[in-house]
Amino acid sequence: MEAHLLEWLHLAIRWVHVIVGIAWIGASFYFVWLENNLDRQVKNEELAGELWAIHGGGIYHLQKYKLAPKTMPKHLHWFKWEAYSSWITGVLLLSVVYYLNAATYLIMPGSGVTPLMGVAIGFGSLFVGWIVYDLLCKSPLRHQPLLLGIALMLFLVFVSWGFSQFMTGRAAYLHVGAIIGTMMVGNVFFVIMPAQRNLVAAVEAGTAPDPALPKMGLLRSRHNNYLTLPVIFIMISSHFPSTYGHEWNWAILLGLSIASVGVRHYFNTRHNNQQFLWALPAAVLALLVMAYVTVPNLPGASNKAASNGEAQVTVTADQAFAVVTTHCASCHAAAPTFAGFATAPAGVMFDSIEQMQLHKDGIYLQSVASHIMPLGNMTGMTQDERDLVGLWIAQGALK
Ligand code: HEC
Repeated sequence: MEAHLLEWLHLAIRWVHVIVGIAWIGASFYFVWLENNLDRQVKNEELAGELWAIHGGGIYHLQKYKLAPKTMPKHLHWFKWEAYSSWITGVLLLSVVYYLNAATYLIMPGSGVTPLMGVAIGFGSLFVGWIVYDLLCKSPLRHQPLLLGIALMLFLVFVSWGFSQFMTGRAAYLHVGAIIGTMMVGNVFFVIMPAQRNLVAAVEAGTAPDPALPKMGLLRSRHNNYLTLPVIFIMISSHFPSTYGHEWNWAILLGLSIASVGVRHYFNTRHNNQQFLWALPAAVLALLVMAYVTVPNLPGASNKAASNGEAQVTVTADQAFAVVTTHCASCHAAAPTFAGFATAPAGVMFDSIEQMQLHKDGIYLQSVASHIMPLGNMTGMTQDERDLVGLWIAQGALK
C-alpha cells in the first residue's frame, strides 16, 4: 500500500514538474527569440526595438524599451514562479526517486558511501554548484564568455566524474542536471529578479535606473538559455541506459552537452549570420560517434566459449530462468515481493520463460552488456550468472 501511495505521489510531483518546466523553458526560449528578432530600426527614441507576430489567430505588436517607460503600466507581468516551482518540484522529485530509496537508486553497490552520506553530498552539491558558478561569473572570466563557458564545463565534468565514482549512473546524471538547474534558478532568484525590482523601483521613484543591473540580468538569462539543452537531455536520460550505464558515462554526458550547446548557439546567432551553421552537422556527427562508442558487445561476440571455438555448452532455458527468477523476479513479477515495489517496474515481468524470451534484448542490455540490473545489484548477481544468461540469449534464447 505504501509503495502504491508513493507511486502516486511520484506521479503527481513528476507531472507538475514537467508542466512548470515546460512553462519556464518555453518562456525562456520565447524571450530569447524575441530579443534576437527585434526590429531595432524603430523610430521611437525610447524603444530598443519592436516586433510583429501572428499567433493563435491574432496579431501581436511587442515593443522593448531601452530601459523602462516613463511611467509603469498598471499590469506588469513577471516570470519567476515557473522557475521557482520547477526547482521546488525538482527537489521533491529527487527526494522521492533517489533519496527515499538511496541504497537502491542513489548509491553504487560496493562504493563504500553510506546512503546518508550520498544524500548529503548529492543535495549539498546543488548549493556548492551555484556558489562556484556565481563566483566564476563575478571573476575576471566574466569578460571572456568562451573561457567562462570552458571553466564551467570543466567544473561540471569534474563533478559528474566524481558522482560516477559512487552514484548509480542514473543518479549521477540526474544530479548534474539538478546542479545546472539550480544554477539557472539561482540566476532568476539572485540576479535577474533583483535587477528587475531595481529597475521598477527606480522608475516608480522617478530616479534613473542603473543600466548595469538589467545588462547582468540579460547575460544570466542567456546563460540559462544555453544550459537548457543539456538539462533537458539529462532529465530524459534515464530512458537511455547506453549513456548513463556506460563506464565512460561522464564523458558521454560531456559530448552530448557540447553538441547541444553548439546547436543552441547556432539558433541564437543565425539571425545575424550563419557563421555557426557547422554546429548542426557537427552535433549529428557527435551523436553518431557516441552511438558507435556505446555499442554494447553483441551477444556471442563477448562470450569466451563461443569465440575460442571451445566445445559450446548449451544453456537451457530452465538454467537461465533459474538465474532470472533468483535475481530479477523479486521485483519483476506480477506480484513483486521486493519491499517498495507495488507493481512490476517498467512493466517488465519474468514470471515465465515466455516472458523472459519476450524481454531478452532488455535482459541483455540491462544485465549482461551493462550491470544496470539488478538494480543496485541488490540481489548479488555474479559475473558467471550474467555470462550464463548472455550465452542463453546468444544461442537464440530457445525454450
Ligand atoms: C530491486 C528491484 C529490481 C531488481 C532485482 C531487478 N530490477 Fe529491473 N528494473 C527495476 C526498476 C525500478 C526498473 C525501472 C527503471 C526505470 O524506471 O527506468 C527496472 C527496469 C528493468 C528493465 C526495463 C528497462 C527499460 O528501460 O525499459 C529491464 C529489461 C530490467 N529491469 C531487467 C532486469 C533484469 C534482467 C534483472 C535481473 C538480472 C532485473 N531487472 C532485476 C528494478 C529491479
